[in-house]
Amino acid sequence: MSTAPYDDRDGWIWMDGEMRPWRDCKVHVLTHAMHYGSAVFEGQRAYNGTIFKLKEHTERLFKSAELLGMKVPFTQQEINDACYEVMNKAGYKDCYFRPIIWRGSEMMGVAAQKNTIHAAIACWEWPSYFSPEARLRGLRLDIAQWRRPAPDTAPTAAKASGLYMICTLSKHAAEAKGYDDALMYDYRGQVAEATGANVFFVQDGKIHTPKPDCFLDGITRRSVIDLARRRGIEVIERAIMPDEMEGFEQAFLTGTAAEVTPLSEIGPFKFEVGEITKSLMFDYDALVRGQLPA
Ligand SMILES: Cc1ncc(COP(=O)(O)O)c(C=O)c1O
Repeated sequence: MSTAPYDDRDGWIWMDGEMRPWRDCKVHVLTHAMHYGSAVFEGQRAYNGTIFKLKEHTERLFKSAELLGMKVPFTQQEINDACYEVMNKAGYKDCYFRPIIWRGSEMMGVAAQKNTIHAAIACWEWPSYFSPEARLRGLRLDIAQWRRPAPDTAPTAAKASGLYMICTLSKHAAEAKGYDDALMYDYRGQVAEATGANVFFVQDGKIHTPKPDCFLDGITRRSVIDLARRRGIEVIERAIMPDEMEGFEQAFLTGTAAEVTPLSEIGPFKFEVGEITKSLMFDYDALVRGQLPA
């Protein structure tokens, strides 16, 4: 795995319809996306040469663009094909992808009616978002000072770059205190999600997870709910208040980057890395590698 800066690597990136050398994929400083956060992106992984839930990721990418008023100048099929093209050009079988759509630089100002819409897809080898040691012992989460905004405050269903501003602030604050990540509450004070993953809890053999009504409804989240139900485990999607965490026995995160990652602590609350969490880690691993029916 390369540790070189992301703008200084060998390889190829698909950008605006063609393969370009990695280092040439630059945007100007006067790009609308950089000044006004007008970009949406995806994170998806390939396992053994197959991109897991590619269709769903591309659908979400287009939905996110639509929510930000951007019309993607490619079809979903073209984006799907381009994802495989970048992976095959790099010769990878297991990798992480970053497709991104953004507004260009024809106009500078809040209005960007004339700005062209751009697209790029990069992929690289990226084993696990959290270190293997941290995953085995269970991650330690701080509680973020920032809250997920209300759906009438921001386009919360979009995977939009601008929404990550409070995630970076929360994760930096957590890391500065020695935590792995932070749990964010929402505008109502309910448990929402981590800075780049959804959260689940286990109590008395049942799974509880917040309803994604103001944060990203993760594709991994939906897969894990399905896997749990296949095992006959009841999954309850509902509003969860912070003090309920006292009674939960297990907790874990889900996300494309994080996959299924156990938690050992959230602020003052402690959890064990229990059997339900471990079996879902195992099932998710089998699912993404095609060893379980999709
Ligand atoms: C803020 C946030 N929530 C949830 C998720 C999980 O989404 P998914 O499972 O689709 O990767 C992600 C990761 O993309 C994320 O960044």
